[in-house]
Amino acid sequence: MSNGRLNVLILGSGGREHALLKACLRSPRVARVQVAPGNGGMALEAECLPCDIANPADVLALARRAAADLVLVGPEVPLAAGVVDVLEDAGILAYGPRLAGARLEASKSFTKDFLVRHRIPTAAAATFAAVAPALAHVRAGRFPVVLKASGLAAGKGVVIARDLAEAEAALRDMLEARVFGASGDEVLVEEFMEGEEASIMLVVCRDQHLMLPASQDHKRVGEGDTGPNTGGMGAYAPAGVVTPAVEARVRAEIIEPTLRGLLADGIDYRGTLYIGIMVTAEGPKVVEFNVRFGDPECQVLLPLLDGDPVGIFESVARGTFRSTQVGVRPGAALVVVVAAHGYPAAPRLGDAVQLPADLPEGVDILHGGTRRQPDGTLVTSGGRILGVVARGADLAEAARRAYGVVPRIRIAGAHFRRDIGARQLRRDGAA
Ligand code: AMP
Ligand code: GLY
Repeated sequence: MSNGRLNVLILGSGGREHALLKACLRSPRVARVQVAPGNGGMALEAECLPCDIANPADVLALARRAAADLVLVGPEVPLAAGVVDVLEDAGILAYGPRLAGARLEASKSFTKDFLVRHRIPTAAAATFAAVAPALAHVRAGRFPVVLKASGLAAGKGVVIARDLAEAEAALRDMLEARVFGASGDEVLVEEFMEGEEASIMLVVCRDQHLMLPASQDHKRVGEGDTGPNTGGMGAYAPAGVVTPAVEARVRAEIIEPTLRGLLADGIDYRGTLYIGIMVTAEGPKVVEFNVRFGDPECQVLLPLLDGDPVGIFESVARGTFRSTQVGVRPGAALVVVVAAHGYPAAPRLGDAVQLPADLPEGVDILHGGTRRQPDGTLVTSGGRILGVVARGADLAEAARRAYGVVPRIRIAGAHFRRDIGARQLRRDGAA
């Protein structure tokens, strides 16, 4: 620490981590910020260090070499590997849950049991380790039916089967062909929930929490929510599907029992808790928990925080956070993801990336899949290349600003959705 300010190390390489980097660069709490492994855009703003962030021993060695005071963990894989446990046990502050809390994302069967035990609304489900009993259960139920690999599968482990043939194929893929490896050793057969989804992000520090504005991701690759699922093609906040009445139910029926349940189960949860909800006719229900910020939801939530996000992360890591510390700014934010040719099935890599030389007020470009070549030029290195994030007095203004910049980005074969936020703009009566 220098003059009480922090050396921060960010783990990850996507748009979410670039948003965290921007927050660190603006923060009065930060002396120096480094990233591992980072990407081509982040490399212009901070030192990027090579590291296998899924390996806790490598992360600890790097954090020590970098003299890091605070490590911000972006993705779920290092959390599920126990990176926070190893850092904290070595006396280094880390933002993110320990292993016990990370199971809420790493094991869907653990989570389903947690939800049922604490009487939190969710889809009915049963867990199976073999095809025959799973199929018998499917036959006795209704279609569509949802089949989920229990372990981490980078967002790809969920199949919504419309009939028995689709269900059987998915069960055989997961349990016999083991397409998700050990993550598919257990499969949940789950009731299909009808409704509109929203992402609820909480900053949790034991019994204290801050609920960030509700946001909405756009998971399908195509406009009008068509085509295969992706990591997320865009997001916006606040999401009006979470009306004040829905929010009151989310707080009373989901957030409060979840936080009480964590404490009752002896889980010291400190970090982001992402609650994916479905707003159904019977009320909000939990679709999933994630134990980190959403990507791209993080990119629209940090700009809406009133105050210094790093100060919040630091106090959560220290266990001293009080929810009265922060407020939320008025207005809205929106991010449009620009994806590589062939994404999500087979993203093409290595295309040249040309960015506008200047950006209008309130707009940022956050990199995900970019890499800087030895000659300094920028090329694509992943499916979700970058996101254009804009803030505005309202969503219409944020959308105008973001979509004003997207066409100025030149990447051969890249694609993006033109309808990010469209549902909310219709709700607002602006489109
Ligand atoms: P998950 O990884 O559990 O979030 O599932 C990925 C996506 O599948 C979710 O964001 C939903 O769009 C969809 N999904 C998962 N579970 C259900 C369900 N029970 N009913 C309807 N859709 C679901
Ligand atoms: N945007 C969805 C996720 O981060 O899981």
